[in-house]
Amino acid sequence: MSALFDALTAHPFSFRRPVPESAVRQAPARAAGPAFEVRPISQPDGASSRLGVEVVGLDLAQPLSSDDFARLHEAHLQHSVVVYRNQRITPAEHIAFSRRFGPLQRHVLRNFKLDQHDEILVVSNIIEGGQPTGLGDAGAYWHSDLSYKPKPALGSLLHAQELPEVGGDTLFADQVAAYDALPYTLKQQLTGLLAEHSYLLKYEELRARNPFRPKLSDEQVAEVKPAIHPVVRTHPETGRKALFVSEHFTTRIVGLPQARSDALLAELFAHSTQPQFVYRHHWQPHDLLFWDNRAVLHLATGVPEGQRRKLYRTTIEGDVPV
Ligand SMILES: [Fe+2]
Repeated sequence: MSALFDALTAHPFSFRRPVPESAVRQAPARAAGPAFEVRPISQPDGASSRLGVEVVGLDLAQPLSSDDFARLHEAHLQHSVVVYRNQRITPAEHIAFSRRFGPLQRHVLRNFKLDQHDEILVVSNIIEGGQPTGLGDAGAYWHSDLSYKPKPALGSLLHAQELPEVGGDTLFADQVAAYDALPYTLKQQLTGLLAEHSYLLKYEELRARNPFRPKLSDEQVAEVKPAIHPVVRTHPETGRKALFVSEHFTTRIVGLPQARSDALLAELFAHSTQPQFVYRHHWQPHDLLFWDNRAVLHLATGVPEGQRRKLYRTTIEGDVPV
């Protein structure tokens, strides 16, 4: 695995600034500061080889130096999905760490925010006193968080609070690798195309299955007006191209007849979530999981009846996609 990891960390990203190859290697012991490790997570054959590293030996409740943060940031850029193990942090510490990456966004479903912490969306299937403790069906379709906003999410950070005994995994699909694997002619065809993203696309379908999804007010509908983004976006920090469409939010490709748009989107959705692009995250207690919404799609696999699952999510605002 170490040879594979060396190969991954030497991957020739077109970074705008030089990235030291040592940035995500195992940290040497230092005289000061935390000596944490960033290491690959074992995956089954045929799964994504780029996504998914784990950070061990780091306590995010403690101050984090700018050098250590830079090392984590590079791991985020190279691997897109990073799990911080065993983080016994408070919601305020979760928010503070998230803010190191940029300003935070607030979800339109305010009724599922955490008390005293508007920046945290509670993802939970637990019902107490007949009322939901959070959004129970988040991530039921492949998507990139908040792609329906003019400035979609840079990344999200999900912190495990209560995990089921079985189920509850989260899948991530590498949209950089998916774009790279497209036939040349299709890449040419996609150049310059724009697509519409709407929060409302699946909303009523989800609401029909989940009685706790609220009817959106006029103010909420106005807050989630559809947005238009490139079908292929260029990552603002790595310079890599990635597919940026999803079954959850992408309604149509601008300028194409509806039937042609539907067919092309169906082809892209099927292509972009093939097993060779996917990392499956099996949650461990106190995991804090980061993913780069500019480079991956994700999907919640669901939990069996009777299993409890609760996580806290922050979302970092990103750039206007180009
Ligand atoms: Fe999500």
